[in-house]
Amino acid sequence: MDIERLRDETPGVATCLNLNNAGTALMPRPVIEAQRAHLLLEAEIGGQAAAAERAGELEAVYLSLAKLLGTRPNTLALTMNATHAWQLAFYGIRFEPGDRILTSRAEYGANYVAFLQMQKRSGLVIDAIPDDESGASDPNALEDMIDERVKLIALTWVPTNGGLVNPAAAFGEIARRRDIPYLLDACQAVGQMPVNVEDLQCDFLTGAGRKWLRGPRGTGFLYVHPGMLEKFEPGMIDHTGARWRAPERYELQPTARRYESYERAVGLQLGLGAALNYALEIGLDAIRDRVRELASRLRGELAKLPGVRVRDAGRELCGIVTFDHEDIDAAAFRSGLGEVSIQVSVTTPDGALLDARARGLSDLVRVSPHYYNTQAELQILLDRLDQIVSESGAS
Ligand SMILES: Cc1ncc(COP(=O)(O)O)c(C=O)c1O
Repeated sequence: MDIERLRDETPGVATCLNLNNAGTALMPRPVIEAQRAHLLLEAEIGGQAAAAERAGELEAVYLSLAKLLGTRPNTLALTMNATHAWQLAFYGIRFEPGDRILTSRAEYGANYVAFLQMQKRSGLVIDAIPDDESGASDPNALEDMIDERVKLIALTWVPTNGGLVNPAAAFGEIARRRDIPYLLDACQAVGQMPVNVEDLQCDFLTGAGRKWLRGPRGTGFLYVHPGMLEKFEPGMIDHTGARWRAPERYELQPTARRYESYERAVGLQLGLGAALNYALEIGLDAIRDRVRELASRLRGELAKLPGVRVRDAGRELCGIVTFDHEDIDAAAFRSGLGEVSIQVSVTTPDGALLDARARGLSDLVRVSPHYYNTQAELQILLDRLDQIVSESGAS
């Protein structure tokens, strides 16, 4: 990987040290240019005409996404963000009183509140799958929990609050064998590691553009296994996803595009296409290896800082690194880093409340290096953290 070239193509590295790639990564130049060009075209000839002119390029976005996920373009829908994609899938599933959802303990907050709302509406039961001794969601426990009332298995592959990589393919093997729909939140996985929906055996998979893929904000996507098209309708439809054929009848699009709506941010989606091609060109294996190497070194160095506790659980760890300090608040670290233009985020318990409660976590500092970050940048982070700790007078 030619890091120097990749950094040259990333204007943001000149102005900030972005270590919040799990939140929003810096866009490379081709992603910025694709959006800028479309915005200018819209200004010149109008939005509808601009979309018509770029129809071929827009179709190519589905091809690139299909390549990234190991599927066919007709299994894909473009959405506004990952949560939107997830909601379209989830709210399309019908639940009767007593039906069960089996989910991970570190399930993402947005997903869990939707479970709770659906529980209020339908009387379903939510059961969290216990973790194994490493802190990962346990496929053996999942298998033991399954009965005829289980209507959905929902897993967050990489939770928002740590480096954990859950065994998503093992879950998929069980879900497929037991014929239970499997909804996989891959938001923090896509773009930082290889993702193949056939290997994962998932029925729905959701992802975001702005995180590890380095695409624009306001982009997301949904993969739908063709078998699900016969079983469920999208949680919401419009007259594009479903054609209004007669006063009392609509007909859903034959493909996953039934999950899309008419209005779309074409410029952002073209930017997403550029981001997908950029990631594919570098290669997801190489990206995974570099990200994990940086993150692993960082964990080792953080653990040496007085009072710092690295909080990542699990056997397989990825590019998210979280820590807290015996005496210093996570917010104080974030603002102390922000003063010198180092971006990190603070992950709060409500991002994965069951996990936070079970492990006694409060706010954590989340550092998420991408392949375009360097060891030298990590050293700048560590030096600044060291300074924050010493200046606080904490032991
Ligand atoms: C695990 C996980 N799932 C879903 C999301 C939601 O993504 P979006 O903000 O694009 O809806 C996030 C965002 O941080 C996340 O960490």
